[in-house]
Amino acid sequence: MWLPVVLFVVILLILAYLDTVKPKNFPPGPRWLPIIGSLSTVLRIIRKHGVHYLAWAELAQEYGTVVGLRLGWTKYILIAGKEAVTEGLAREEFDARPDGFAFRHRTMGIRRGVIFTDGEEWKEQRRFSLRHLRDLGFGTRSMELMLREEAIEMATRLADMGRRAGPAGLDVHKAYTIPVLNSLWVMTAGERHPHDDEKLLKFTGLVNQISRSIDVSGGIFNAIPFLRFLMPRFKEYDSLHKQMWTFFQETVKEHQRTLSDGHPRDLIDVYLQELKEQGEMNGSSFSQNQLIALCKDLFSAGSETTSNTLGFATLFMVRYPEVQAKVHEELDRVVGRDRIPTVDDKPNLPYLNAVLYEVQRICNVAAQSILHRSTEDSEFMGYSIPKGSMLLFNLRSLHMDKKYWGDPEVFRPERFLVPGVNGGPTTVRIDPWLVPFGLGRRRCLGENLAKMSLYVFFSIISHAVCFKNPPGCPLPPTKGVTGFTLGTGPFKAVVEPRF
Ligand code: HEM
Repeated sequence: MWLPVVLFVVILLILAYLDTVKPKNFPPGPRWLPIIGSLSTVLRIIRKHGVHYLAWAELAQEYGTVVGLRLGWTKYILIAGKEAVTEGLAREEFDARPDGFAFRHRTMGIRRGVIFTDGEEWKEQRRFSLRHLRDLGFGTRSMELMLREEAIEMATRLADMGRRAGPAGLDVHKAYTIPVLNSLWVMTAGERHPHDDEKLLKFTGLVNQISRSIDVSGGIFNAIPFLRFLMPRFKEYDSLHKQMWTFFQETVKEHQRTLSDGHPRDLIDVYLQELKEQGEMNGSSFSQNQLIALCKDLFSAGSETTSNTLGFATLFMVRYPEVQAKVHEELDRVVGRDRIPTVDDKPNLPYLNAVLYEVQRICNVAAQSILHRSTEDSEFMGYSIPKGSMLLFNLRSLHMDKKYWGDPEVFRPERFLVPGVNGGPTTVRIDPWLVPFGLGRRRCLGENLAKMSLYVFFSIISHAVCFKNPPGCPLPPTKGVTGFTLGTGPFKAVVEPRF
């Protein structure tokens, strides 16, 4: 009678043991426990640091530039360092995206959009988005005009609120959220809202809540999907995604009602025209739900990344008044006070551009890539990477490499400046170790828009106001708050109009 029980326990123990054995030549990493793999170790390290990027840095320090983990039953490979990141992002077999529960859930249960799709469907949607965003002014003059409008309204409001708040200061860490979102809204849906518009504020809240509810590794629901039945947090997560979906569904319906052939007003109109031409039935990847997923993706990927980088730029101006003074001096010398800076001034503002590069290097809003997935068994940097592994590329590891930068923890925009030869002008240099938008075929789709947004907002806001730390307050910390991307924590600044 005991024999079956003993046999059962022995089999269970053998299975549990086998579940902890790593594949041959798998990259080094923390040991695996049955079922959960390295989850408890990873959660402990994340809790210790409070932010994911420091947890990945600790693992790289302990195990090397290629670290192997298992979260639940999924294998994860963390890749750090210039050589491994550059090689990994050039490998076609690492171009795919994960296909777990959490990733499908955000696009109503089916893989859609551009961020979490791959293969032909992704290529088609990515090509379409890049081409049409360019036609609508992606990285061109009309995009600059649209961004200027947002930045000028923001500068006027900031100066006004700053005057009223006085030395007590304003909470500025979210100051860029609405104007950046508005610029994306103009591009996608054609409408511009005043910054205090109720619909815009509601939508902004939704985008913020969604990005705080998931991290780039897919989060706990992806590692162990059945946990959604046990965790009340899932209900909130589910409701946020449904609200966002409905929001875009209504916007697309409204566009369909008012679309006039041959006169597309924005990305939604262009997509609807393409859909009409291709039809939903001929096997193409174009569909109305695909359009909604694309909108959702552009907002998720584009709004917080840009506004958080600008939030960090403000934080560093508060912490380094001597750097801000040099930005102001350059703006006064090159642009003067009678007009607002334009994109034509950009080549003549090397210091301001160097500050933006240095902010991107040190703040690491996207400290790592979005998850990639390997589509075949492969050899990489001397290790075996099993098919289906998730890969996370640590972009921050390039930005904070001590051997390359010397003093990576120090905020020093001068590292990007090249002194003029024979009395020629100082210029700003592009550094191959600065890769905030990633590398390879999956690199950021909105890079041009993002670069132009950073320049237009930072130059116009810096021209208009001066940020100072409120008297008696500790300086705002640079560590950041983790979410889908890294943001500053809340902080206040005295905002003084410059003229
Ligand atoms: C400072 C601002 C931004 C930063 C730092 C940034 C950074 C990144 C990074 C690191 C990736 C992942 C690359 C990879 O997985 O290998 C990415 C992907 C992406 N970004 Fe950005 N981004 C920014 C702004 C934008 C904007 C403004 C948009 C769109 C309007 C955008 C749209 C996307 C999309 C759609 C993807 C996914 C591309 C794909 O999977 O094919 N991003 N971005």
